[in-house]
Amino acid sequence: MSKEKDNIPQADKLMGSMRHMGYSFESAVADVIDNSISAACKNVYLLFPTDRLASLTMGILDDGYGMSNDALYAAMRYGCTSSEDERADDDLGRFGLGMKSASLSQCRVLTVVSKFNGKYSAYTWDYNIILKRKKWVVLELTQLEIDTLPYVERLKEQDRGTLVLWSDFDVLHKSSDGQVYDTLLDLRKSLETYLSLIFHRYMSMKNKSVSIYINNLKLKPSDPFLEEHPKTTIKPERSIALKDSNGQERLIRVKTFVLPFISDLSDKDQRLLGGIENLRQKQGFYVYRNHRLIIWGTWFGMKPRAELTKNARIRVDIPNSLDDIWEIDVKKQNASIPKRIQNQLRQTVFDALEISVRQQTHRGRRESVNDNIEYIWERMRGRNDHFYYQINRSGNFYQMIRNKMTDEDASYFDMFIKEVERNFPIQQMYVDKSNECIDIVESEDRLGELYELGITMVSNLSKLLCKSHKEIIQIVMSMEQFSVLPELEKKLTKYFENEH
Ligand SMILES: Nc1ncnc2c1ncn2[C@@H]1O[C@H](COP(=O)(O)OP(=O)(O)O)[C@@H](O)[C@H]1O
Ligand SMILES: [Mg+2]
Repeated sequence: MSKEKDNIPQADKLMGSMRHMGYSFESAVADVIDNSISAACKNVYLLFPTDRLASLTMGILDDGYGMSNDALYAAMRYGCTSSEDERADDDLGRFGLGMKSASLSQCRVLTVVSKFNGKYSAYTWDYNIILKRKKWVVLELTQLEIDTLPYVERLKEQDRGTLVLWSDFDVLHKSSDGQVYDTLLDLRKSLETYLSLIFHRYMSMKNKSVSIYINNLKLKPSDPFLEEHPKTTIKPERSIALKDSNGQERLIRVKTFVLPFISDLSDKDQRLLGGIENLRQKQGFYVYRNHRLIIWGTWFGMKPRAELTKNARIRVDIPNSLDDIWEIDVKKQNASIPKRIQNQLRQTVFDALEISVRQQTHRGRRESVNDNIEYIWERMRGRNDHFYYQINRSGNFYQMIRNKMTDEDASYFDMFIKEVERNFPIQQMYVDKSNECIDIVESEDRLGELYELGITMVSNLSKLLCKSHKEIIQIVMSMEQFSVLPELEKKLTKYFENEH
């Protein structure tokens, strides 16, 4: 019979390796703010040193419900027990690690002071001490020590709350050749951009909004969807039901936005968006866990990040009860999309892309002969009522082909199509047509050719759009090239019936 033996991790080694989990400065600060929000705070103050000669300590102060001595002692533990209980629906925590691992990824000394029922408690993790003692020893501070902590007077002005202090910035010291003060000063700017984005929904909540300050600067929410802008296209919200690990049904909410055309954006809109540079990089899904943005600017491999779709953004809201399914990592910097909802999301992606592509390409008005037919070439009414022609990029044919391509292939493909359009041999065609010597290349077996194409399209599109073969055959038959050969409908239907 095997024997159970304790095998306790080596404190210095484990704490050391946990420091290299890969937090950025901004994401580490955000993880600490998550705790403040979960503690129902109204304000978070990021306190940066303003005197290069004073001690280099940064503070994150909140006015949330604070912790008693016992609660704080427990909270300082790596993998603290509070996470064993069922998490509240609005909790932003996850592994019982954030406060420690995020803080100590940036500095060597973490002190947390909390005011609860008028009493102060404080504990310190000092990596220098752990290295020496090689034990998980946390320091409990005396009231006298608490009184001399930086920024503690700010906590004293409040009825309750928690102050997280970072000092001994060894990582920044190393990367900046000792210029820690100046680097912290620089980091404020990127922190402002980052936090204004990821907490924008908390910052603009109607009844329980959270204000975040960097020293005296109050951050303004930056809304990646410009929801208030009259020219933002907003599709109705959809819900996708998914079972959590206990088999209980939970809802994911999905909403598609397409930003207005750049020329419709005022300076203020551009600021709200955090700048219009790299819009292309910022297209895609925006995944929120309990209103906190976790991951953005990715199509999760579903679509190439093309220039044409740069204004499409899809908001996805997931409750924290679905963490397992989304595989949220400790840093909350990554999430992967579960296979089983990929298909359901695909249609949303196409809706978004279709609007975005239309907006980018159809600056003129489409002048179809028949609105029920999907044309290859679109006739567009442009400036001065002149016409121009372009390849239909919102059609199913184009989308099917684009979907098969990598990001890079697609950008070459678009480049090619654009040049085909720009180099339309209009003069020569006109001359040939007036001389009545123009032909469309005849194929020997056009019916056979389209039958083949039809089969390819129906099987690809039904996967892509999650629709039945029957429905897709209808779509395919409405395409220009198929619509002139109605007998194909029966042949295609028969083919797909026999397939099953
Ligand atoms: N600012 C705070 N106010 C109140 N409680 C806090 C605060 N920060 C941390 N805590 C408590 O400490 C616990 C541990 O935090 P953390 O290490 O970030 O792990 P997690 O957030 O995953 O639980 C939290 O669950 C919470 O109970
Ligand atoms: Mg946390």
